[in-house]
Amino acid sequence: MSPKTLNDLKRKDLLQSKGYINEEWVDAASGKTFDVYDPATLDKIATLPEMGAADVDKAVAAAHAAFQTFKKTSARQRARWLRKWSDLCLEHIDDLALILTLENGKTLAEAKGEVTYGASFLEWFAGEAERVHGEVVPTANLNQRILTFKQPIGVAACLAPWNFPIAMITRKAGAALAAGCTTVWKPAGETPLSSLAQAVLAQEAGFPKGSVNVITTLNTVQEVGDALCKSKFVRKLSFTGSTRVGKLLAKQCSDSLKKLSLELGGNSPFIVFDDAKLETAVEACIMAKFRNSGQTCVTANRIFVQSGIYDKFADALTAKVKSLKVGPGVEDGVFVGPLTHERAVEKAMNHINDAKKHGGQVVLGGAPMKDLKGYFLQPTVIKNMKREMITTREETFAPVVGLYEFETEEEALDMANDCDVGLGSFIITENMARAWRVTEALEVGMVGVNLGLLSACENPFGGVKESGYGREGGRQGIEEYLVVKSMFINVAN
Ligand code: SIN
Repeated sequence: MSPKTLNDLKRKDLLQSKGYINEEWVDAASGKTFDVYDPATLDKIATLPEMGAADVDKAVAAAHAAFQTFKKTSARQRARWLRKWSDLCLEHIDDLALILTLENGKTLAEAKGEVTYGASFLEWFAGEAERVHGEVVPTANLNQRILTFKQPIGVAACLAPWNFPIAMITRKAGAALAAGCTTVWKPAGETPLSSLAQAVLAQEAGFPKGSVNVITTLNTVQEVGDALCKSKFVRKLSFTGSTRVGKLLAKQCSDSLKKLSLELGGNSPFIVFDDAKLETAVEACIMAKFRNSGQTCVTANRIFVQSGIYDKFADALTAKVKSLKVGPGVEDGVFVGPLTHERAVEKAMNHINDAKKHGGQVVLGGAPMKDLKGYFLQPTVIKNMKREMITTREETFAPVVGLYEFETEEEALDMANDCDVGLGSFIITENMARAWRVTEALEVGMVGVNLGLLSACENPFGGVKESGYGREGGRQGIEEYLVVKSMFINVAN
């Protein structure tokens, strides 16, 4: 039987209920606290310190002090710590997955997938740490030589979202620590427990005092964000979350001109062409739409289907969606868990009602699941979607599939690119010439061809337009935490 409550944890110390500063588990300077709830049952599962600016200042000071020695550690040593941390994640996968499921709502199977995905970033950046190197640059002046090398930028603030609280911390902090930066983590208030468990394992892996610090906050998030943005010691800030908050952070960081990575909203197009294999299209759509109950930045939000396959695809997809079991993530066989917030159900209902008002035809679902206690929404399929509907402009972030019909490739591209953001996208086609053509024409950072998942530590994850800038993971991920220095040498006698 699957574990069901936090009492089932094998390693009880992975469940922490304090912030973490300079290798100490601490309360908020103000003494304030906030509660964390299981979105599947609405039961309170933890009470944590509501930290503020004073706590941020302490954490940043600890990270800044630690940076003075951490930056001088060898890349091989940092790689060893990262590998050990990755191994510890895999060793404690059951406990980490249980904590994640209980605070976020995703199923245990998905939570284990996230632990593995999270650990893979640590292993990946362990490799990348040792591959950071500079260049010898030829100069026109024969009496001079230029050498470049790369150095860690300084203290890095890692602001992680609630939808992937493990993988987004390891994707950011793994890269930062590999580069030689020390870190201050700010997990989302809804899902801080997974990050705190990661801090336990990072410490156990051997990372030195002050190199990892965790600030917990829910209601004081603006004060915490302000303090991180204003601090002159924080030289890099990496954020995953909404475009609205990303823009705010960019403005706040402009005074100290911090280096920024912003992985923001997506509104991904998912385009099914007439020549697609039906089975591939359905499988990819289920993955792209229902992973994490539709709450991923790259979730398929606008599903464009060519007219020749529209009805067949809609029927096959609806049949598949109907078969998905909905319920608390800890229950066996569940595929779709709750949404993480109450307001997420409200937002999805607003999108569904707006689609109906504009002629959308709800062929499956379309309502909250009142028989379950948590934030559950019936998996929903809507046909006859139109450009004027809210879903065209805004991500629904819920298990709601809206199908738009199109005739030509040009029309699909026009609809897909008529959007302020550009993060992920998916195309389903058996025609490889078309796959290349459409990939090159889409205004996005990533394109999945005949699949519904863009997650891999090797992938430079990130977007264009108002989806932000910077890349996480891949060869590029570590560069975000490095600065280039050049050495100009006079070689004339
Ligand atoms: C995200 O939703 O921001 C991350 C998804 C992923 O890495 O797969």
